[in-house]
Amino acid sequence: PFPWARVRLPMAIMPLRYELSLHPNLTSMTFKGSVTISVHALQATWNIILHSTGHNISRVTFMSAVSSQEKQVEILEYPFHEQIAVVAPEALLMGHNYTLKIEYSANISSSYYGFYGISYTAENNEKKYFAATQFEPLAARSAFPCFDEPAFKATFIIRIIRDEQYTALSNMPKKSSVLMEDGLILDEFSESVKMSTYLVAFIIGEIKSLSQDVNGTLVSIYAVPEKIGQVHHALETAVKLLEFYQNYFEIQYPLKKLDLVAIPDFEAGAMENWGLLTFREETLLYDNNTSSVADRKLVTKIIAHELAHQWFGNLVTMRWWNDLWLNEGFATFMEYFSLEKMFKELSSYEDFLDARFKTMKKDSLNSSHPISSSVQSSEQIEEMFDSLSYFKGASLLLMLKSYLSEDVFQHAIVLYLHNHSYGSIESDDLWDSFNEVTNKTLDVKKMMKTWTLQKGFPLVTVQKKGKELFIQQERFFLNMKPEIQPSDGSYLWHIPLSYVTEGRNYSKHRSVSLLDKRSGIINLTEDVQWVKVNADMNGYYLVHYASDDWESLITQLRVNPYVLSDKDRANLINNIFELAGLGRVSLQRAFDLIDYLQSENDTAPITEALFQTGLIFDLLEKLGRMDLASRLVMRVFKLLQNQIQQQTWTDEGPPSVRELRSALLEFACAHSLAGCCTTATQLFDAWVASNGTQSLPTDVMATVFKVGARTENGWLFLLSKYTSLGSEAEKNKILEALASSEDVRKLYWLMKSSLDGDTIRTQKLSFIIRTVGRHFPGHLLAWDFVKENWNKLVQKFPLGSYTIQSIVAGSTHLFSTKTHLSEVQTFFENQSETTFRLRCVQEALEVIQLNIQWVEKNLKALTWWL
Ligand code: BES
Ligand code: ZN
Repeated sequence: PFPWARVRLPMAIMPLRYELSLHPNLTSMTFKGSVTISVHALQATWNIILHSTGHNISRVTFMSAVSSQEKQVEILEYPFHEQIAVVAPEALLMGHNYTLKIEYSANISSSYYGFYGISYTAENNEKKYFAATQFEPLAARSAFPCFDEPAFKATFIIRIIRDEQYTALSNMPKKSSVLMEDGLILDEFSESVKMSTYLVAFIIGEIKSLSQDVNGTLVSIYAVPEKIGQVHHALETAVKLLEFYQNYFEIQYPLKKLDLVAIPDFEAGAMENWGLLTFREETLLYDNNTSSVADRKLVTKIIAHELAHQWFGNLVTMRWWNDLWLNEGFATFMEYFSLEKMFKELSSYEDFLDARFKTMKKDSLNSSHPISSSVQSSEQIEEMFDSLSYFKGASLLLMLKSYLSEDVFQHAIVLYLHNHSYGSIESDDLWDSFNEVTNKTLDVKKMMKTWTLQKGFPLVTVQKKGKELFIQQERFFLNMKPEIQPSDGSYLWHIPLSYVTEGRNYSKHRSVSLLDKRSGIINLTEDVQWVKVNADMNGYYLVHYASDDWESLITQLRVNPYVLSDKDRANLINNIFELAGLGRVSLQRAFDLIDYLQSENDTAPITEALFQTGLIFDLLEKLGRMDLASRLVMRVFKLLQNQIQQQTWTDEGPPSVRELRSALLEFACAHSLAGCCTTATQLFDAWVASNGTQSLPTDVMATVFKVGARTENGWLFLLSKYTSLGSEAEKNKILEALASSEDVRKLYWLMKSSLDGDTIRTQKLSFIIRTVGRHFPGHLLAWDFVKENWNKLVQKFPLGSYTIQSIVAGSTHLFSTKTHLSEVQTFFENQSETTFRLRCVQEALEVIQLNIQWVEKNLKALTWWL
């Protein structure tokens, strides 16, 4: 019998060092491997339990440091837990070291997970092969037997045998390259720093690079040869950000090289493997002619994110996946923080604000979870990669930074990184570092635990009476049964409350205090016209005002919106629409508030208003209530008419202005307003006439393509370009247009081709399903497609993974009828208990129920109001 019954490995044996040799064959998609692991016994034991899956193990030998004699030993396998047990020939003694050697062979994976292979067609129609790794969270064990938990840190020496035309890369610099008798080449990489298994990486492909030295670290961007012209932006960005982080963290990046590689087919956006960051082509490459400002932001942000992980995640690592937010939340926070510091012109705070809106929406569902939640099974671990770990984590750090000041915040994280370098941590270790810096003036741990150990967030209710603000908190909760008010009084947060106001004695006033009770009072020094609580929405909570206080804010927006920051204005819009969803304010009042938009010029408030009203439009459209839907569009159009008419079809202006243009013209074209489609059609026709060579303004390119794709010929021309172009940025815009078609046969074909991976890579499938699912005829088709191909989908993408989450949400989130609810429920119930229990499935059901409720509650009011 297998000597170990648990999912987690025993603590008796610690790995110290791995020597891994691999000989892959990229055409037969198989490889031979051998791994030598030096281990240290912390306790006496007879067995060594470690992870391994899908390996054909041919020989295992064991050696103790004392006898230094190799003995062949037997192993036992327990596939259900992906574990093997090496039964030692002698008892392992506490405090002694041993060596284990395992020889095996395996298949190179045909999914995107583990050591996987892909093929692609190069310029002259030649078929090329490429192999890469993606180990996080649980796939290192499928590439080589190992102790595959983040806390088992060790060093790695990696050797790879390859054909001569390939380049092999791994985490560390290459130490030697030897030509062997059979004409193959053996590359050996230097011994790594102490690190977790999920960060090990290697790739083999025909690639080129561009490099630059940064104080002894060689930074290189790699891509397939035909795309080497698109790496400049990434190189410049990586160099700048590497310097920034080294300064900010006061810790040098420890390796001699840093490679960023664009992989031709890759599931995630990017991965932070130490020293060998892997990316999709679209998230690393930047093409001057076809990349939009949004594309530039994306590339910059993702590089900032993966580089931040070199400290948060790689140097200091969560002990277990329950605290994944310490990796992803921090990397996400640093992504926006570093962009604000180094690329201020990109206004990335707008994206961060938007991300907070979206995350809070998800976090207000019952299916949400605390960002530190205990996890065991592989699905549960996969599920931790959701927007809560990323964005709630990042939002809480933002809140803490605003509360403590930037200096204190930096001190604490520098201390934390220094104290735990090459170690493993949990949330408490972070809070301890903060407490060391705040030096008992504030218990950060106590405060932050109310945010990381509870799901959801507070709704703060404010009432102004003279010079006093009466404050209360309760959980903001989208209740399934609105008639029952959430009486769950067990939720309480320690909230850094901030507000802005304007009075006679001060032109603009801000203040912060901590609310750690259910209610409290804030004294204003004078009776002011209005107060806006949660300044710049740096806090992770929503605010509800007493009726009069809403009125004063609405009036102030009409009189002069610019006394409030763009973040505050966008926040008010988000806030009031969310409260309308909860039934706390009427939809009418929400529309009253956005009446001021005629004088709005900033991107954040306008895009939020377009998003909120777009959501309502989507629901109405899918219910077949086109009458109401188009009247809604006309209302919004009236508000934004001036701004729309001012737009030019160019790439002029700073990034934020360009993104606003993109959003406004997209809105106008989607609803055929203001003659936008005429201009778009002219641009499209000229582009077709030039056989796609004439350059289009990049920020409106997707919009132009969408209008062009409305005709049969336009769609077909776009498809022909899709298969022949060399810029992923341009191809993505085409794909979005192709997938926005109203022709269901075309949509079906797109999803099918992407699933099969011919013509359209499978990495684009979740994007296609989401795009198809948003529009009218497509939304039913997307769901049918998901049902029909569910088994294939979960073969390609791990159950619970981000991709599966996004496919489930994208194909169901606009259903709003009881029939669809029971249909989705029945489908997942019939799969398996594990599938039905997935958080994304529970979330999908909840969202449909809330849609049904929303419609029941608001349809009448809308009919009347519109
Ligand atoms: N560590 C993740 C990659 C990852 C994602 C591994 C999911 C395993 C499962 C990486 O740092 C990451 O967060 N990538 C993001 C991009 C980022 C800028 C939000 C991604 O892939 O979407
Ligand atoms: Zn990350």
